[in-house]
Amino acid sequence: MREAILLVGGQGTRLRPLTIATPKPMLPVAGFPCTEHQIARAREAGITRIILGTSYRAEVFESYFGDGSEFGVELVYAVEDEPLGTGGAIRNAARYLQSGPDEPVVIFNGDVLTGVDLVGLVDKWKIAQAAVALYLTRVEDPRAYGLVPTDDSGRVLEFREKPTTPEEIVTDQINAGCYVFKRSVIDRIPAGRPVSVERETFPELLGSDAVVIGVVDDGYWLDLGTPLAFAQGSADLVLGNAPSPLIGSRAGQFIADDTATIGDASRLSAGTHVGAGAHVASTATVAASVIFPGAHIAEGADIQNSIIGTGAHIGAGSILTGVVVADGAVVGAGVELTAGARVFPDARIPDGAIRFSSDKS
Ligand code: GDD
Ligand code: MG
Repeated sequence: MREAILLVGGQGTRLRPLTIATPKPMLPVAGFPCTEHQIARAREAGITRIILGTSYRAEVFESYFGDGSEFGVELVYAVEDEPLGTGGAIRNAARYLQSGPDEPVVIFNGDVLTGVDLVGLVDKWKIAQAAVALYLTRVEDPRAYGLVPTDDSGRVLEFREKPTTPEEIVTDQINAGCYVFKRSVIDRIPAGRPVSVERETFPELLGSDAVVIGVVDDGYWLDLGTPLAFAQGSADLVLGNAPSPLIGSRAGQFIADDTATIGDASRLSAGTHVGAGAHVASTATVAASVIFPGAHIAEGADIQNSIIGTGAHIGAGSILTGVVVADGAVVGAGVELTAGARVFPDARIPDGAIRFSSDKS
């Protein structure tokens, strides 16, 4: 196992407005882009060469990661002019692979945080002489994912992406967004047009009797696709519940960048991360939240399970719970915003102007 493909070309629609300027995998989770955590974990497992399948805001990746040498791997960029979907992106990246036809290639969705044992997954792929091995996890509500029932031997029976009717919920095992493909199987994906690996490639492989195995792993797993999940994932990394070589022994109730300024009587807890140059004033409370670089939190503000964008300002005494504030926005003093509120880039909310609640009651 030497090569991997990382799929990082999605629009990140559910994370708007944060993803207007920055693609989802590049938003800082616990201080580093999700992609950087994934590269560090891949490298730890022995992967030396990674193809980044990019499309939306492709240039952001290259300017941050360059040729990968600073990150200990060789990085190559496979840019799609028009998004090719997950399968099309894999096929498009294949032209840069150096692996032989029977060698394993590891593929990751760019927005999953996981403790999966990559070496173990490749071993199981090898032993089963599989075309593809899928890493699976179990979730309470599988509707937003790809459902993957398996038989007693671990053979995948079916792949059902985002079921819409109750009858389709046949298992709690879902596609965790990490695969091992035999190189030659990638080369058989149609080139030059959009392909969904979930809706087209996997069902076709199963229909052709190819050996596709599922490996269920109940270790840490989270898709960072929604604001609440994003804040949760960052908090889990900071607390040390989610593994990343980039956090290691710094895990604790909070992590603040060395260049952040933190007021004496402020309370930071539950996995809060404070980014470079950000400021949290005295008597402010921040729990399980992500404060992006250069953001400013004034006295007595109370921020829970929220994401505060780069350079945003939160006024004194404001209360934010489950909120996304985009880059450069200014929330005045004494404002209350509750779950689901999203403040757009550079928006201005005057002092005490809004008491917004998404409660229907
Ligand atoms: N290069 C490229 N081009 N990448 C893409 C494209 C594309 O056209 N479309 C999506 N991606 C990337 C996204 O950036 C993301 O990293 C990954 O592919 C998956 O896309 P999401 O939009 O996050 O999909 P999802 O979360 O709804 O569902 C997928 O992930 C689930 C697990 O997190 C599916 O694979 C499900 O089956 C799976 O359960
Ligand atoms: Mg996702």
